Amino acid sequence: MKSEVKRVTEYQRRFRKHFDELKWLYTELYDNKSMFAELCERMEYYYHERSEKLKWLDRKREKNPNWYKQNDMLGMMLYIDNFGGDIKGVEKKLDYIQKSNVNYIHLMPFLDTVEGASDGGYAVKDFRTVRPDLGTMEDLDAFTATCHKKHINVCMDFVMNHTSDQHEWAMKAKEGDGEYMSRYFFYDNPDIPKSFDETVPQVFPTTAPGNFTYLPELRHWVMTSFYPYQWDLNYHNPRVFNEMMYNFLYLVNQGIDIMRLDAVPYIWKEMGTDCRNLPQVHTLVRMMRIISEIVCPGVLLLGEVVMEPVKVTPYFGSPAKPECHMLYNVTTMATTWNSVATRDVRLLKQQLDSVNSLPKEYVFLNYLRCHDDVGWGLDYWTLSNWGMTEFNHKHYLNDYFLGKAVRSNSRGELYNDDEATGDARFCGTTASMCGVERAGFEHNGAMMDEAIQQDIMLHAYMFMQSGIPVIYSGDEIGQVNDYTYKDDPRKCSDSRYLHRGAFRWDLEKKIEEPGTVENRLFTALDQLEKIRKKENAFVSTADTWTVETYDPAVLCIGRYYENNKVYGLFNFSEQPKTAWIHEDDANYRDMITGKVLRAEAVKLEPYGFRWMKWVR
Ligand code: GLC
Repeated sequence: MKSEVKRVTEYQRRFRKHFDELKWLYTELYDNKSMFAELCERMEYYYHERSEKLKWLDRKREKNPNWYKQNDMLGMMLYIDNFGGDIKGVEKKLDYIQKSNVNYIHLMPFLDTVEGASDGGYAVKDFRTVRPDLGTMEDLDAFTATCHKKHINVCMDFVMNHTSDQHEWAMKAKEGDGEYMSRYFFYDNPDIPKSFDETVPQVFPTTAPGNFTYLPELRHWVMTSFYPYQWDLNYHNPRVFNEMMYNFLYLVNQGIDIMRLDAVPYIWKEMGTDCRNLPQVHTLVRMMRIISEIVCPGVLLLGEVVMEPVKVTPYFGSPAKPECHMLYNVTTMATTWNSVATRDVRLLKQQLDSVNSLPKEYVFLNYLRCHDDVGWGLDYWTLSNWGMTEFNHKHYLNDYFLGKAVRSNSRGELYNDDEATGDARFCGTTASMCGVERAGFEHNGAMMDEAIQQDIMLHAYMFMQSGIPVIYSGDEIGQVNDYTYKDDPRKCSDSRYLHRGAFRWDLEKKIEEPGTVENRLFTALDQLEKIRKKENAFVSTADTWTVETYDPAVLCIGRYYENNKVYGLFNFSEQPKTAWIHEDDANYRDMITGKVLRAEAVKLEPYGFRWMKWVR
């Protein structure tokens, strides 16, 4: 009885705190009292449905809202089938996750979808069913509980921009049911679609051109910004928002800690605009944040905003009205690969400076590679001042990573190579892009040493950035591109499958075999990860800055937190370097070798790096 009273109070406390703002935002978008009342009622329902264990975690995190900004956070993203066969299989491999020092795993899309029309699971058929070959909701629930016991956080995708064309709503819409058609964007003549097409850019210009799909059986056009089988949801309809929020709450109640809001900039459409990042998107995200603060405050929102920097940061909201807890550091990722191809860190330094100048409350997820392609979203204005044009430079970058340029050992493939615009993005794993694939194929030991060194240096640099690092499963053992997708008719047209191969457990065994690629990479990363977890200069809220090195190939990052200062020096070239930084005249300890050195005339091997800690 007593705890029941406490629970009601807790919910009401949170609800009252946010009620006015939530009502205001909802009314602004929908002006629909009964739908708002329904939303509030359902929120309370999902609160009561939430397990005591999760509520306990919520309370703990509410008391320590910076819980995810600590230096122990290390993420890994993986596909359930590639990694462990099914959910139970992944559960059996959690020891490996822990051995990899990872305490946050992103399970790539696993909800029910349609084979052959799934966009890697990003076309959801049922938000409340797990893909049958991967397991059940009960398995997921059991899995998250096991993870929590091991202090591992679980992240999943909330694909909210669209559903599969086989989703129950889409099926009913196909039968001409107006109620369900109104949950998508349907037009009975091509005029409106044409008008949209005039201002809306294409996401997949080659693999899925256009923003609309004609349905002959219905004689209607339906909006499909991504693949034709991914129907855009119409958030102008409050029923869509409410139902999607119920799905969200249902899913977080299975023990999900981090919800990745897939393709979130796209969720509001308005004719005459580019249908990206519209103000209403922010209203929707803010409402989602409030709803989770009320029902499940331990849950983090991770926005997938693959846009230029000025469009990204607004998704953090403001301190008084926060939206996402975390966002991907996408421009930094692309700029990193630009530095790899050019041996020039100037643009990267500038990019890091702009990230470092943002409020420290903003948490970015840093990564080298993920399941998607690398899009060359660079600061072309700066590059043009250095004599580079966007078109030519993108060509150079693609050529470089295809292995066609001089001094490149990279291997990979183009993605959405658009003949009309000449634009293309790039696919490949970190190891392949660093030369591990080519060196292995050619049995070239010196090339392999260089490739491994570059791969380690890039991870060491990623760990130094401000925010939380996320490893793409397989990168920790140097897994290379997997070309078998070409034999699969359901995958062969989407080159992103090149870097979505099955985890090689046969190679994982080689971690213990000294001198193997797997051993060299894994042990080097392991050492860095352990240092990172021990040194509080790596917390997310540390001061982070870059330092001039007087060499365009050498990047220097400084970090400071509670009297601890560290520097990282990274050589992006195959030449040995001597780095000059004149920050202070203190002594430093090399965090790997333990040797004491000054922060000047620091020797760096080809693709070498150094982590140094200030000795007081
Ligand atoms: C996100 C995913 C990508 C997917 C798209 C459509 O950008 O990362 O893989 O194709 O959303 O859902």
